[in-house]
Amino acid sequence: MQEAEIKIGGISVRDLAEQYGTPLYVYDAERIRDNFRRLSSALRGHYPEVSVYYAIKACNNLEIAKLLVEQGAGIDAASPNEIRLAQALGLSGERILYTGNSLSDDDLAAGLRAGVIFNVDDHGVLKRLFALGRPRCMSFRINPSSEDIATPDLTPFAGPSAKFGIHPRFVEEAYRTALENGVERLGVHMMPHSQASKPESFAHVTGKLLDLIGPVARKLGFQLEFLDIGGGLGIPYRRELPPLDVDAVAREVAAVVRRKCAEHGLKTPRLVMEPGRYFVGDAGYVLGRVISIKQGYRTILGTDISMNTMARPVMYGAYHEVRINGRGGQTAPMAMTGQVCENTDMWISEREFPAEVAEGDVVVLMDAGAYGHVMSYDYNGRLRPAEVLVDGGQSRLIRRRDTFEDLVSRMCLSEDIQKRLREAAGEASGQAAGG
Ligand SMILES: Cc1ncc(COP(=O)(O)O)c(C=O)c1O
Repeated sequence: MQEAEIKIGGISVRDLAEQYGTPLYVYDAERIRDNFRRLSSALRGHYPEVSVYYAIKACNNLEIAKLLVEQGAGIDAASPNEIRLAQALGLSGERILYTGNSLSDDDLAAGLRAGVIFNVDDHGVLKRLFALGRPRCMSFRINPSSEDIATPDLTPFAGPSAKFGIHPRFVEEAYRTALENGVERLGVHMMPHSQASKPESFAHVTGKLLDLIGPVARKLGFQLEFLDIGGGLGIPYRRELPPLDVDAVAREVAAVVRRKCAEHGLKTPRLVMEPGRYFVGDAGYVLGRVISIKQGYRTILGTDISMNTMARPVMYGAYHEVRINGRGGQTAPMAMTGQVCENTDMWISEREFPAEVAEGDVVVLMDAGAYGHVMSYDYNGRLRPAEVLVDGGQSRLIRRRDTFEDLVSRMCLSEDIQKRLREAAGEASGQAAGG
């Protein structure tokens, strides 16, 4: 049975693959805007004061981040270079949230210079931070014990096995140090889960966080300016799962903030979120081609989507739906691999694919917008792919494909190698000119 062509923002994947080549990342601009509006209006519908940041680590192409900034997002940066990305988008100061890990003095100084909101992950860093300067506004990322937080979703970012956040034992000390150093505007942050799929997880985390910070704030006599419940909003990577009900997330979080603040004698703070995946995840696709169909111990679909093009499946066993454009009907079990010389590059070891699949077919890896291109690399000389944005029925390149010249450009090379590279480039351009 012939399946319909897969389209992204109205453009067929076959046309995109032909025009730009594969492997290729493609993003649907309207989907990104929709994702932002859905969350933002849910939060604003249930709570009076809200700030939404985009965790630019999820997809750092400035043309993608710009779509979100145009909708009103700030940027959550994880490093000085991500702060610079945010500044390139016209943002400054408190429109930038800075949530780093193991920050060096240079990293701290960069945040101070930029006047960002510091979201500090380790109270041990405060001595070095205050020796360098004083943020006007800051928060602390708290890491509750896994039993304390046990949310209905997994909690990989909290508890003893997580590298993130401040142990509850040190929370009071952290806030006291900030106050003693003259920081007057304080918030609190927690992000114990990622890819959370149940609305109640967010309310649960929020309640726990306020129970933890409430007594500390009362004892030290400060009010919370903001309450940041992180990102972590999940998307349904498996089509059979329902999408996260963000209206329920907002409603339940708003209710618990009001209740817990009243209980702890706190004024209701501004509510902050900084999702990454939720905004861009389902708006991105990787297009590749079936290059070979190898028969052996199993049938292996060899594609040009390798572990270095999309690292998530081999990096942490992430599931992505994969479709073969225009193919349907009967299926057969097959493996799918890329072109990299590693056995882990068999990133699907067995799944049902259309039996009529053929060499040259376009492969579409779904939900690739978050933690996709940002994690690509050039192992085996397989170069980082291009990125294309589809908007209003038009496509345009927003990052060119890496070239061999990119691969060698940052190597510091001896004269003989440089000479050979120049000669080879001259020959290649001569051949191209000669047709
Ligand atoms: C502090 C912080 N905020 C936000 C995010 C974005 O998470 P997600 O893409 O799951 O929304 C992350 C992801 O690692 C994070 O560490």
